[in-house]
Amino acid sequence: MKDRAFVPTMGALHAGHLSLIELAKSYSDEVVLSIFVNPLQFENKEDLAKYPRDLDADKKLAMSAGAMQIWAPTVDEIYPDEPSIISAGKLGSKYEGVNRAGHFDGVLTVVDRLFKHVQPTYAVFGEKDFQQLFLIKQWVQENKVPVQIISAPLIRDQDGLALSSRNIRLGDEGRKSALVISQALLAARESRDPHSTMLEVLASEPGFKLDYAIVIDEESFEEASASTLNTRALIAGWVNGVRLLDNMQMSVVA
Ligand code: PAF
Repeated sequence: MKDRAFVPTMGALHAGHLSLIELAKSYSDEVVLSIFVNPLQFENKEDLAKYPRDLDADKKLAMSAGAMQIWAPTVDEIYPDEPSIISAGKLGSKYEGVNRAGHFDGVLTVVDRLFKHVQPTYAVFGEKDFQQLFLIKQWVQENKVPVQIISAPLIRDQDGLALSSRNIRLGDEGRKSALVISQALLAARESRDPHSTMLEVLASEPGFKLDYAIVIDEESFEEASASTLNTRALIAGWVNGVRLLDNMQMSVVA
């Protein structure tokens, strides 16, 4: 069978998604993009109802970026029966999972269903959602799912802000405040004590409300220690009521 590269999305496509399509194209001539707002990963029904949906615009964008097939299934197509939920384990309820019970279980459950339909050789996920990427890789490895997971680098705007469909809700002032996140990550990368440095820089911006700032071991997602070789810093917080996520590699040895 021919190789197939898959880009799963929930729509509301932006330049970050288009970079996933670009990367997928470098793996296979056949790129399939799915657009499915997965109810199982929304613990809040209002959030699900409010999620931006513009299928026509998404289709145009995805085609122009080179996706060959765009698949936008209905909820009944994906869940014709009551799905058995795949557990994201302990890590599923840490960090991003703290206030979003069942979120990562919902992500793994839909990714399993999407993979069964599309049967891709490769599937591309962005590093922006680093915990999601880690949990998907772990699930694929532990369950010998026959799909190669490709990590796509996080894309930033020129001012350093990580691309997200939520950024438009920040407003001009909010956007200025939000820049403290990438500034904190850059400062941490130059520091001997990245964790304290991040906290210090973040605290200097009154418009930013911290959720968590951690430095993890990229191999295990445990908090990094002095002997950890490959570390990554992750920050989550709010500006103007908009939740923002970012991360950056700190040190790489292997
Ligand atoms: O990252 C996303 O857009 C979603 O969590 C995913 C992976 C498409 C599953 O619904």
